[in-house]
Amino acid sequence: MSATRVVCLAGDCIGPEVMAVATRVLAALAPNVELDERPFGAGAIRQTGNPLPAATLEACRSADAVLKAPIGHPDFDAADVRPEQGMLRLRAELDVYANLRPARDGTIDLLIVRELVGGLYFGARGTREDGTVFDTCEYHPSQVERIARRGFELARARRGKLTSVDKANVLETSRLWRRVVHEVAADYPEVEVEDMLVDNAAMQLASAPEQFDVIVTENMFGDILSDVAAAMTGGLGVAPSASLGDGGPGVFEPVHGSAPDIAGLGIANPTGMLLSSALMLEHGLGLEAEARQLEAAVEQARRLAPTPDLGGAATTDEFSEAVREALTAR
Ligand code: IPM
Ligand code: MG
Repeated sequence: MSATRVVCLAGDCIGPEVMAVATRVLAALAPNVELDERPFGAGAIRQTGNPLPAATLEACRSADAVLKAPIGHPDFDAADVRPEQGMLRLRAELDVYANLRPARDGTIDLLIVRELVGGLYFGARGTREDGTVFDTCEYHPSQVERIARRGFELARARRGKLTSVDKANVLETSRLWRRVVHEVAADYPEVEVEDMLVDNAAMQLASAPEQFDVIVTENMFGDILSDVAAAMTGGLGVAPSASLGDGGPGVFEPVHGSAPDIAGLGIANPTGMLLSSALMLEHGLGLEAEARQLEAAVEQARRLAPTPDLGGAATTDEFSEAVREALTAR
């Protein structure tokens, strides 16, 4: 049996800073897991002209999991070749269609299940002769079915409530979404399902987030709503995500971006990266005990060594040290 191998994509700006914390912690917590760092994002564009070089993609395909730090760099924001294209391509190539974004804090315990490889992000786009620019939102029923099924499975294993978010009063794709979700619902009689329009969902998330268990929604709505959910539960710096397909390697990455404004200052909060590593240990590598240990250690570090975004003054290194101390004290 070959060793467990994780491809690490360190990303841009604060990406390498938070990835360094994660690899140090993983080396201590799961020493048998091989960590294979590969070029990706702005650095890879500079080296090879491609944000997702072929060798990096092949390494990801054959790995047990992919751990990814945030990408994106101001130098490339308006360029033809951008780091974000590499990220969308990686998601599509690995077909990790189910993006799990948990948000937890006090009485809030919800899970956003975002469709990740369809919709506006991947529909036809372009410029017409008259100068009109367009992006199109497209969904095939099979794409809706598999994400709906994943949402029901997850809801069944949690508190048994699924909120399906759409804009069915306006969009054709949302009417398809709603119809397919209710077809799939017939297979899950134990799950209570409700429909919610996306604008109302944003308001409900901001005003009464305790009502939610699992939220299932399309790509763009999920992108926006997961930032709202993060804001309600300690901010973007702490929000993790897991992107899963059917069997192949998952991609585990924080919800936050590459934060160019604080890059190099040594004050980035590695919580989102570390909780994504915990999701990887659990969902990607089947190391549930290690995942729980890491979550508990991060919780302790958040109390003892909060970074500036959490209202403290700890540096990334001090936070990292607090995590390691909590792990050795276990
Ligand atoms: C996210 C990010 C990405 C997305 C960007 C960087 C392309 O915002 O993972 O939420 O929109 O999916
Ligand atoms: Mg986003």
